[in-house]
Amino acid sequence: MLAPRGAALLLLHLALQLWLGSGAQATPQVFDLLPSASQRLNPGVLQPVLTDPTLKELYVISTFKLQTKSSATIFGLYSSADNSKYFEFTVMGRLNKGAEVQFQTVKGVGDMVHDLADVSTMPAPFAPPSALMGAILRYLKNDGKIHLVVFNNLQLADGRWHRVLLRLTNLHRGAGSVELYVDCSQVDSIHNLPRAFSGLTQSPEAVELRTFQRKAQDSLEELKLAVRGSLFQVASLQDCFLQQSEPLAATSTGDFNRQFLGQMSQLNQLLGEVKDLLRQQVKETSFLRNTIAECQACGPLSFQSPTPNTVVPPVLPASPTPPVRRCNSNPCFHGVRCTNTRDGFHCGPCPEGYTGNGITCSDVDECKYHPCYPGVRCVNLVPGFRCDACPVGFTGPMVQGVGINFAKTNKQICTDIDECRNGACVLNSICVNTLGSYRCGPCKPGYIGDQTRGCKMERSCRNPELNPCSVNAQCIEERQGDVTCVCGVGWAGDGYICGKDLDIDSYPDEELLCSARNCKKDNCKYVPNSGQEDADGDGLGDACDEDADGDGILNEQDNCVLTHNVDQRNGDKDIFGDACDNCRNVLNNDQKDSDGDGKGDACDDDMDGDGIKNFLDNCQKVPNHDQQDKDGDGVGDACDSCPDVSNPNQSDVDNDLVGDSCDTNQDSDGDGHQDSTDNCPTVINSAQLDTDKDGIGDECDDDDDNDGIPDLVPPGPDNCRLVPNPAQEDSNSDGVGDICETDFDHDHVIDRIDVCPENAEVTLTDFRAYQTVVLDPEGDAQIDPNWVVLNQGMEIVQTMNSDPGLAVGYTAFNGVDFEGTFHVNTQTDDDYAGFIFGYQDSSSFYVVMWKQTEQTYWQATPFRAVAEPGIQLKAVKSKTGPGEHLRNSLWHTGDTSDQVRLLWKDTRNVGWKDKVSYRWFLQHRPQVGYIRVQFYEGSELVADSGVTIDTTMRGGRLGVFCFSQENIIWSNLKYRCNDTIPEDFQEFQTQNFDRLDN
Ligand SMILES: *[C@@H]1O[C@H](CO)[C@@H](O)[C@H](O)[C@H]1NC(C)=O
Repeated sequence: MLAPRGAALLLLHLALQLWLGSGAQATPQVFDLLPSASQRLNPGVLQPVLTDPTLKELYVISTFKLQTKSSATIFGLYSSADNSKYFEFTVMGRLNKGAEVQFQTVKGVGDMVHDLADVSTMPAPFAPPSALMGAILRYLKNDGKIHLVVFNNLQLADGRWHRVLLRLTNLHRGAGSVELYVDCSQVDSIHNLPRAFSGLTQSPEAVELRTFQRKAQDSLEELKLAVRGSLFQVASLQDCFLQQSEPLAATSTGDFNRQFLGQMSQLNQLLGEVKDLLRQQVKETSFLRNTIAECQACGPLSFQSPTPNTVVPPVLPASPTPPVRRCNSNPCFHGVRCTNTRDGFHCGPCPEGYTGNGITCSDVDECKYHPCYPGVRCVNLVPGFRCDACPVGFTGPMVQGVGINFAKTNKQICTDIDECRNGACVLNSICVNTLGSYRCGPCKPGYIGDQTRGCKMERSCRNPELNPCSVNAQCIEERQGDVTCVCGVGWAGDGYICGKDLDIDSYPDEELLCSARNCKKDNCKYVPNSGQEDADGDGLGDACDEDADGDGILNEQDNCVLTHNVDQRNGDKDIFGDACDNCRNVLNNDQKDSDGDGKGDACDDDMDGDGIKNFLDNCQKVPNHDQQDKDGDGVGDACDSCPDVSNPNQSDVDNDLVGDSCDTNQDSDGDGHQDSTDNCPTVINSAQLDTDKDGIGDECDDDDDNDGIPDLVPPGPDNCRLVPNPAQEDSNSDGVGDICETDFDHDHVIDRIDVCPENAEVTLTDFRAYQTVVLDPEGDAQIDPNWVVLNQGMEIVQTMNSDPGLAVGYTAFNGVDFEGTFHVNTQTDDDYAGFIFGYQDSSSFYVVMWKQTEQTYWQATPFRAVAEPGIQLKAVKSKTGPGEHLRNSLWHTGDTSDQVRLLWKDTRNVGWKDKVSYRWFLQHRPQVGYIRVQFYEGSELVADSGVTIDTTMRGGRLGVFCFSQENIIWSNLKYRCNDTIPEDFQEFQTQNFDRLDN
């Protein structure tokens, strides 16, 4: 028994020599600060100590116990004059709101030092709940503000004893540091702190020391201040065995440093073992001693307990009559109850988490009882233990506790997280939860896609089981395999649910059980009104409400049909009452308002709103702030029908928007644009689209977007033909460049709803801007038509019994599909109505017209014209242009040389019915001259031109047509660019060639 102890003592001695040898330090000067301490210090004494310029290190050691989650200021130095703080150490067991802000604020910001004044202005970043416990050191800086040093993640208030050592280095000089040791191990160190203590230069009485208020469960056992001395020396006051590492790290570098550190740690380990050995020895010795002491048979004996709280080995009693030790010499282990006995003292049991005789207690390694979940690190603390967080993919509490019993009964439980429940894999895909992780599989049955694209319900138009559409809908398979459902003609709804739609305006007769706009019940069941306008909000649409504005005056008598005006006042005596007249004092039956500012042109001194008054403006109705006028004819380029040829009168007899002075009508490719201005003079391109604005139309430009990648040939084809992307980025490798992935022409209307996905200038069907063309300007047989445009340009109503006329949109098309609902909303009259396409000028266009009954035109000059009922498709190419000739030729069913050619007539010879809706579908492919028009009545196809070939007009503009018929509605108009040649064209050609061959 003696041999190991002798060796251990020798070793320890050596170690101490080595340790202290290099940086031999003076023994620490220790002040007991406890109010109960006998050598209690007058706080004033501290002042010279703390402000001594040679002072380098200052230690505060304290042993205390705080109730779980409580907070307390362990001690502080305050000014007795104004109670202001000099120095304060506070333990936070749980944060209140205010402190939480401080903690969160300082968390993760370098050394976590901030002026209190700054704290409130800083943003509060996130902090995990574990940051809610710790300690705060506050001290007074040079500048009179309080500094805050925060130690996070500390459990100091848990109902157990803790030994805390604060080592402050150079704090009164600036760039100081604080190290915090808890229960003999370093838990934190914070550097570069600003200067402290300089504020302590007041009279001694002015400094007051306060420690925390004792409560039943809280107690402070030790509070000492030490100056000078080494960490080792000071720590040993607390029974701790610490090494001073800072100076080494700061002064040594390189191999030496590493080597030295290596040796140090070996030595440290060795010392640890020595310490354990000594403990054991002490235990055995005291056990022996106690046994002897309690041994009655051995006679009255008195023993001196060993020095309990240092690592210096106890010296066996050498003196035969040592003095009797009593409790007042603190012989028991920290926190162990001491009872004086007749013969000396008795120590109670060791605290939880320790084992020993009460005089000496050593920490129990709870980790040996495996309290942590397999794979989770267990950290033995003095006292107690802690389990790290559960592994990734598991969830469970952090476990921390003291004692074997606790370790055995409070094992950490980590449960697997079911990531599949939290949507780890894409919706509708197979997800397999595994221990600690998960796996994503393919899409569930009935869904298609993958983990990157997502899993969509598998839909197909071909397989009836996978067709999601209503039986009354058309199923359309799109490019990416998406399926769209569109209610068939005569039906309306969202495509999945379709209800009857008598007037074919895309609103169902009855409310449907779906949420799309088109599931709402039609507010005019029998009159097409695709905009559902309802001025008085009475649930009855304007189109079928006899008193649309609800002012008690029926529409027919009302001078403001859509504006409530009981007084019917009308200052200027035009047909619009003051309440709805955009020029109250100027007669303007057209109500034209070029700039849409609510002030009619007739009374607007700046009609186009370009900031230039009409009388100065060279384009009164077209905004042109620059007033450019190349040909100096007084008409600005922006509205000049011949910008390069002087034509002050702007006459344009053929209504093709090209002034007569520069109108050659020399059009080699027949697309309606004369060669001199055609951007592709020999290629059919009625739309004249020139995406890169280089003067060469896309149809004849090898690089439409001018990005250096040819449209078709290498290094093309360009994956975004209309959007410059020289690098051709295509991250999903689908052949369509990223920049034009969902919006091919980059016009900010996605392809799915863009009526011309490959033309940035045309996006939605819109007839709000239109050109009126009067086909019999000279004749005074009837008045001119009156067009009203509704539903944001998708509905046109003509209200007058008029001469033949057209409302022509300004957009010119190459290939186009054009559809609309046609409805004559009156029983009066039986004349012509229809629509036009391929409009190039007022002498050149196609018209589809429908007469109700047979009738001979009432003016027999220049020739007798007979109209038959039934639908007709005519090509108008008039030598004379608008006038009597063209008028009668249009009326006449059949060909009229030099005017009109009848291409097709519905053989049924049936006129349109009053107040019945018809839906037309037109396909025009000017490239090949393909024309086909179909008419539906309800959902039934009633007329079909079949494939008709005509190349008179190679594209042009769209519009509507009327002749002597009032109250016509063209509703739910839709146009779509489409250059795809229909399949039936091929069949048609083959058949005709066959016929030729035979
Ligand atoms: C374009 O026309 C073709 C042939 O007529 C047709 O099959 C296709 O559905 C049309 N495309 C669109 C988007 O309407």
